[in-house]
Amino acid sequence: MLGAIHSLLLVSSCTLVSSSRPHIIFILADDLGWSDVGYHGSVIKTPNIDALASEGVKLDNYYMSLLCTPSRGQLLSGRYEIHTGLQHRTIDMMQPLCLPIDETILPQKLKERGYATHMVGKWHLGFYRKECLPNYRGFDTFMGFYQGMADYYYHNISTGIYHGWDFRRNNDVIAQKYAGQYSTHVFADEAQIIIMKHNPEVPLFLFLSFQAIHLPLQVPSRYADMYKTLIPNNADRQKYAGMVTCMDEAVGRVVTALKHTGLWENSVLVFSTDNGGILGGNWPLRGSKASLYEGGVRGVGFVTSPLLPSRVRGTVNRELLHMTDWLPTLVRLAGGDLMGTKPLDGYNQWETISQGTPSVRDEVLLTIDPLIAKAHHFKDDPYADNDSFNVLIRAAIRVGDWKLITGPPGNGSWGTPVEFGFKYLHPPKRTHSVQLYNVVADPNERNDYSHDRPDIVRFLLARIGHYYNTSVPVLDPSQEILLADPARHGGVWSPWR
Ligand SMILES: *[C@@H]1O[C@H](CO)[C@@H](O)[C@H](O)[C@H]1NC(C)=O
Ligand SMILES: *[C@@H]1O[C@H](CO)[C@@H](O)[C@H](O)[C@H]1NC(C)=O
Ligand SMILES: *[C@@H]1O[C@H](CO)[C@@H](O)[C@H](O)[C@H]1NC(C)=O
Ligand SMILES: *[C@@H]1O[C@H](CO)[C@@H](O)[C@H](O)[C@H]1NC(C)=O
Repeated sequence: MLGAIHSLLLVSSCTLVSSSRPHIIFILADDLGWSDVGYHGSVIKTPNIDALASEGVKLDNYYMSLLCTPSRGQLLSGRYEIHTGLQHRTIDMMQPLCLPIDETILPQKLKERGYATHMVGKWHLGFYRKECLPNYRGFDTFMGFYQGMADYYYHNISTGIYHGWDFRRNNDVIAQKYAGQYSTHVFADEAQIIIMKHNPEVPLFLFLSFQAIHLPLQVPSRYADMYKTLIPNNADRQKYAGMVTCMDEAVGRVVTALKHTGLWENSVLVFSTDNGGILGGNWPLRGSKASLYEGGVRGVGFVTSPLLPSRVRGTVNRELLHMTDWLPTLVRLAGGDLMGTKPLDGYNQWETISQGTPSVRDEVLLTIDPLIAKAHHFKDDPYADNDSFNVLIRAAIRVGDWKLITGPPGNGSWGTPVEFGFKYLHPPKRTHSVQLYNVVADPNERNDYSHDRPDIVRFLLARIGHYYNTSVPVLDPSQEILLADPARHGGVWSPWR
C-alpha cells in the first residue's frame, strides 16, 4: 500500500515537472571577473545583467575550475576534471584531445527530453576529430569557433607560425562571410534568430557561449568611448570595459527576443562566467584566472526566471554551488533522468536555488593537477611527508567554510581595478606548501591558518587524497603539428583525424 502511494507520488511529481519542460538559456561569459559587473560595484556598465540578476537569484558561493577547458568540461559533463582527464591546463591548439566522447553531456540529456538544442559561440573542448564537435554531441545546431580564443573581427587564430580561420555554422566555414563583424554582435544576432524561429511548443536549450571578454582586447570604438571619462588615460581598460558592456547589451537583446516571442514566461536563464577574470577584475577577491584563490575559482553567476517563486527573486544565495551541478540540476528541471551519464560529481541544486534550502553539497574539489607541482619541499614544511596527499602537487578543495590549497597556487596578488587607483598588493613570501583559509570569515584570503589548525589541514588533505585516488590519468598528448596545420585544411582549423 505504502509502495503504491509512493509510486503514485513519484508519477505525479514527474508529470508535474515534465509537463513544464522550461526553455533553458545558458549564457556563459569568458573570463568575466568578480568585479566586472555593475552589481559587484564595478564602474563597468552592465545594466541588463544587473537587472536580470536582481530579478533572479544571485549565486554568491559558486565555484568552478580555474581555467576555461576544465570548467566547460565540468558544465557539460557534470563531472570534475580529474574524472574526465582534462585536469591539466586547457586544450592546446594542435593537441589531439577533446572532452572524452564517451561522456554523455548536457545537450544529449536534454534532447532525450525533446529539447531543441542550439549552441552559439566558443567551444574549446577539442575538435581533432569530428566526433568531438558540438554537432556530434547533442547540439542540433552550432555556430561559433572551436579554439580558446580568436580575433573578434576576422575569426582567425594563429599559433605564431600556423594560422587559420575558425568560424563555422555547423560544418560550413563562415569566417570570410563574417569578416569585419564583431563576434559579440554576431552571436547575439544568431541567438535572436534561433529564438524568433523557435516553435514555442518545443522546449528550447540555447547555450550561448560568448567569446567576450577573453583577450585580445577588441571592441567597436563606440563601446570603449563610453569610458573616456570614467576610466581616463587607459585605452586598454576602456576597451576591456567596452567589451563587457557590449556583451551586456547582447544579453539584453537575447532577453528582449525571449520576451517578444513569449518564450520568456516559461524560461530559466542561467548566467555564468567560466572562471575568474584577469588580474584587476576580481577585486577584492584574491588572485585571478588560472590561480586557486577565490579570484580564480569563485565566479559570477545568477539564475533568473519568471518560474522562480517570488520570495527568492531578488535574493543572494550563499549556498555552496559548483559548475558540475548544472547538468543534474537542469536535466532534472527538464523532467529528465540521469541515466547514461558517468558517475556525476554534481548535484541537483534546483531546490537550493528556487527555495533557498541548504545546498546538497558542503564540499567542492577545485582541482588536482599532478603535472603542476613544486620540485622541492620548503625547508621544514610541516606537511612534507603527509601520507594522504603529496603537498607539492597543485590542488585545492573547499569543505564547509575552509579552503585548502597545495602546491603552486598561481598568482596570489590582489589587484585593484585601474580606476580605483591601480595597484597590486603582493602577499608575503610563502614558506610552506599548504595554505588554509576560512573563506567565509575571510573571503579575500588574507589569513593563512595552516599553522594554527593542523587538524583541519590534515582532514582536508585526506579529502584531497581521497579524490586523487579516484582521478583518471591526465590527458595531455603532444601537439600534432603536421596533421593539424590549417594549411592542410584549406586554411581553416579543422578536425584532422
Ligand atoms: C587574421 O586575418 C587578418 C586578415 O587577413 C590578419 O591581418 C590577421 O593577422 C589575422 N590574425 C590572426 C590572429 O591570424
Ligand atoms: C597526513 O594526514 C593524515 C590524514 O589526517 C594523517 O592521518 C596523517 O597522520 C598525516 N601524516 C603526516 C606525516 O602528517
Ligand atoms: C602577479 O601578477 C602581478 C602582475 O602581473 C605581478 O606583479 C606579481 O608579481 C605576480 N605575483 C606573483 C606571486 O607571481
Ligand atoms: C588511496 O588508495 C590507497 C590504495 O587503495 C589507500 O591505501 C589510501 O588509503 C587511499 N588514500 C586516501 C586518502 O583515501
